[in-house]
This record gives sequence, C-alpha cells and structure tokens, in this order.
Amino acid sequence: MNSLKDQVVCITGASRGLGRALAEAFGAEGCHLVLGARNQAALEDVARDLPSSLAVQCDVREVEDIRALVDAALAAHERLDIMINNASVAHYGSLLSTNEADFDQMVATNLKGTFFGCQVALEAMLARHQGLIVNISSIAGRRYAPNESAYSATKWAVQGLTGALRLEAAAHNIRVTSVVAGGINTPVWKEKDFLPFPPEVEPERDFMDPKEVAAAIVNIARHSKHFVVPELVCVPLLARERDLGS
Ligand SMILES: NC(=O)c1ccc[n+]([C@@H]2O[C@H](COP(=O)([O-])OP(=O)(O)OC[C@H]3O[C@@H](n4cnc5c(N)ncnc54)[C@H](OP(=O)(O)O)[C@@H]3O)[C@@H](O)[C@H]2O)c1
Repeated sequence: MNSLKDQVVCITGASRGLGRALAEAFGAEGCHLVLGARNQAALEDVARDLPSSLAVQCDVREVEDIRALVDAALAAHERLDIMINNASVAHYGSLLSTNEADFDQMVATNLKGTFFGCQVALEAMLARHQGLIVNISSIAGRRYAPNESAYSATKWAVQGLTGALRLEAAAHNIRVTSVVAGGINTPVWKEKDFLPFPPEVEPERDFMDPKEVAAAIVNIARHSKHFVVPELVCVPLLARERDLGS
C-alpha cells in the first residue's frame, strides 16, 4: 500500500457527514486538504482541527466555484492528487410529489456538480499525468427503489459518467473510482420528514459509520497507481437484501 503523506486532496461537501469523515481520514494520513461546501462556518469548524487544510466556500452547482476550489489547491501546493466529488442533496418522495425546484437542485448538485468536478480535476491532473478521481455515488444508482426516482436518476447518471470517464482517463494514467454506498449514518437522515425505507430501519443502528466508509475510500487511494478500482460497493450487512434486491 502506498503512503498518502503530502498528497493534495480536494473534497466537495466536506462540511458534514461523509465529506467530513473523509477530510478527517485523509487528514490523518498526512494529506494536504482543500475542502469545499456552501456553509463556510461549518467548513471552517472541520478545517480547524486538521493540520494542513483550507476551507474554500464552494457551491458545486457553479462551475466557477469548483474551479476556484481546485485553483486553491494548485496555488497552495502546485498540484492536485485526489479529487473527491462527494457533495450531494437528496429529496425523497413519489414521482408525483417531486417538485421542479427539488428536481433541479438534485440534477445541478449531484450530476452537474460531479461532472464538472471531474472535468476541472482532470484538467489539473493532466499536467502531471497522474491522479485519482473518486465520485461518491450510491446504491440508488445501481438498483431501483420506490420514492427515490429523481435522486436515483442522478446517481444512475453519476454511475454512467464515472464509468465512461474511467475509460477516458486511463489513457492519461488517471484513476477513476465510483463509491456505490448503501445507507450511511449521517445527519441527513435526521432532517427528513419522509424516509425512503421501512420504519423498522434505524440509521443509527443499521447504517454504516461514515468513518468506516471513509477508511475504505482511503484504502482505495493507497492502492498501486498501476491499477484502478472501478467501484467500491459497500452496504450495511443487515440491509443487504433490500439494498441489492431489485
Ligand atoms: N447518507 C447515506 O445514507 C448515503 C448513502 C449512499 C450514498 N451517499 C452519498 O454520500 C455523499 C455524502 O452524503 P451525506 O449523507 O454525508 O450527506 P449530507 O450529510 O447531507 O452532507 C452533504 C454535504 O454536501 C454539501 N453540499 C450540498 N449541496 C452542495 C452544493 N451545492 N455545493 C457544495 N456542497 C454541497 C453539504 O454542505 P453545505 O450544505 O455546507 O453545502 C454537506 O457537506 C453524497 O454523495 C450521498 O449521495 C449517502
């Protein structure tokens, strides 16, 4: 396994949840972090405890914001080694109840934000012909579930763009990985009026710990630069049949 010490890592959506856990996990490896999210105060809270980290306000729906995030990495460290496109929003509910504003926000954040996160990162990585791009997808981009049609559509799209980019980027020695995750115990579940899983499922008890998912992603980054892990699929053990079933 390769050391990640001094690797330069950009993470979108790093103000909480899995993004925060990723910042802490890569920080513990000695990486230089450039963290993005909309909530600057929350982002600075995360960065405060991490030795080499920059907090850059970034709304991934705006391509210029993504460019500013990556530019901050290049300005401070003259390179980008790892880009993690993690920022995402989820609005659950039936197709009939999904409004246009929520639909547009999910497409702009989850799909457009990830697409241009890849593009801007790839441009930066091409200078050295090396790098790793990790797109945080979801099991919702792999199987079908009711009441997730819009969110699921964005994650199936992330799967498509990640697979295509993996083949394109290989020609430049750049690795691309999709993280196909089942339920993770992050703050998002406490905010929802409507949950897309049965009431007997309790995220705090049944879902994956974001620190453990982040540790699995760190391991992907530590693999040899000579091979790529196309997908990291991880699902909570108890929920595996529901997650992989249809
Ligand atoms: N939780 C799960 O069960 C689960 C399962 C499978 C996959 N995932 C995936 O894991 C990733 C992280 O999810 P999570 O559960 O940690 O979600 P979360 O707790 O809701 O955190 C989402 C993060 O994205 C940021 N964000 C949202 N919109 C943004 C925008 N326009 N620009 C920049 N940042 C934005 C938020 O920060 P600001 O509000 O400060 O911008 C926040 O830091 C997502 O890609 C999600 O689809 C989660």
